[in-house]
Amino acid sequence: KDGYDLVVVANRLPVDFSVGPEGDLTWQRSPGGLVTALEPVMQGADGAWVGWSGAPDLAHEPFTADGMLLVPVTLSAQEIARYYEGFSNATLWPLYHDVIAPPAYHRQWWDAYRRVNQRFADAAAEQAAEGGVVWVHDYQLQLVPRMLRDLRPDLRIGFFDHIPFPPVELFAQLPWRRQIIDGLLGADLVGFQRTGDAANFVRSARRLTGYTTRGPVITIPDADGRPGRHVRASSFPISIDSHRFDTLARTPEVQARAKEIKADLGNPDTLMLGVDRLDYTKGIRHRIKAYGELLDDGRLDVEHATLVQVASPSRENVGAYQELREHVEVLVGRINGEYGELGHSAIHYLHHSYPPEEMAALYLAADVLLVTSLRDGMNLVAKEYIAARSDDRGALVLSEFTGAADELSPGPLLVNPHDIDGMKDIIVAAATMDPREQRRRMRRLRRKVLADDVAKWSETFLGVLTAVPPRPLTVD
Ligand code: G6P
Repeated sequence: KDGYDLVVVANRLPVDFSVGPEGDLTWQRSPGGLVTALEPVMQGADGAWVGWSGAPDLAHEPFTADGMLLVPVTLSAQEIARYYEGFSNATLWPLYHDVIAPPAYHRQWWDAYRRVNQRFADAAAEQAAEGGVVWVHDYQLQLVPRMLRDLRPDLRIGFFDHIPFPPVELFAQLPWRRQIIDGLLGADLVGFQRTGDAANFVRSARRLTGYTTRGPVITIPDADGRPGRHVRASSFPISIDSHRFDTLARTPEVQARAKEIKADLGNPDTLMLGVDRLDYTKGIRHRIKAYGELLDDGRLDVEHATLVQVASPSRENVGAYQELREHVEVLVGRINGEYGELGHSAIHYLHHSYPPEEMAALYLAADVLLVTSLRDGMNLVAKEYIAARSDDRGALVLSEFTGAADELSPGPLLVNPHDIDGMKDIIVAAATMDPREQRRRMRRLRRKVLADDVAKWSETFLGVLTAVPPRPLTVD
């Protein structure tokens, strides 16, 4: 075989590995959003997926699953600490999310990031067919486009950034800012969630390289300083498999489970729901604080308004995540201690993740969904809630600092999570919104989310990328 026409490169493979009793390796498909997004195009296109298995030192030959080739990249425990927990999640993640937590800059982490990015680039170069398309994903792999172009100038290379791209004033903190920009500029197309992210990137690229930019196009000079190849930066807001969620939420099992959840909670008038990875960008503390104050003020009471907070475990070896968990758990404990009664707590805090069926039931049971991120690339939970509400009911409270707010307004109740008083008023408005108003807003939201699903997202991105003319074999 001469290689694959479409190669996806992402930090994680779309499967989870586990070691059996005999030390044998088994894998299971992981339910991640990116898999569902890419599965149809991958299967249609003879695709390969390069990614990390999620475990240390796990070496495995490429294997075929669900109609695509999976190519595991091996990371040592030290590389996980430095490349994944360190540079990706304690340097880039906070830097790209408005420095909500202080980013740490360590040269050893950077060295590991470079080395691991090279390993991903080598694996992709090995799998891609002549003139093929390689689609690189997210902040963990920003050096891959350039590394790949050096190895394989025949390829068309796309990159999609799933998280925000910071303004140049913040990005400039990064000691390796120029290398990151050069890495991304190895792509033909660099995609972002919001137009603002694309604009931030173009501004950083211009400021840090001095290259000419014209609207969304950056022109890279060739070896003689003459205008060479072009890189386009645009927004492609990601979505979910909306129809799958819609269908799931219509099944009798899920509908019965939604009723059961409500009954288990004592059939409150208003069930409020938060669903997040336990991450400091999500504004979980701000949300719980607002809810606690509403109880203090007597504007809500626990008999009638219950909060369910699903906080799925995430990046548990990173300090800022451990601190957040402690803060959230102390806050929840304090509010429950104050307002809970025997057989009835104010906040139901669940440090677990759940399968899609249970999530759909929770969405159906929830009168109000609270998305109060301090900064969020898109926020797919908001879209899942909308897709699940085929009954046109429910109210969505949505932070203005999410990509989803740019895309879905008007329809959600927008909040600034830093403004606790303002957020309290909006939460009360959501909890008391009359059904006609809920329906009016939800219908508008559903039209959008059902039309712009994730299949359309990947087709649009790949459509723009493959419209790039194949390049003559010259290296810039
Ligand atoms: C965000 C990132 C993804 C990442 C996911 C889960 O959505 O954009 O790249 O995979 O979080 O985080 P984790 O560190 O567990 O992969």
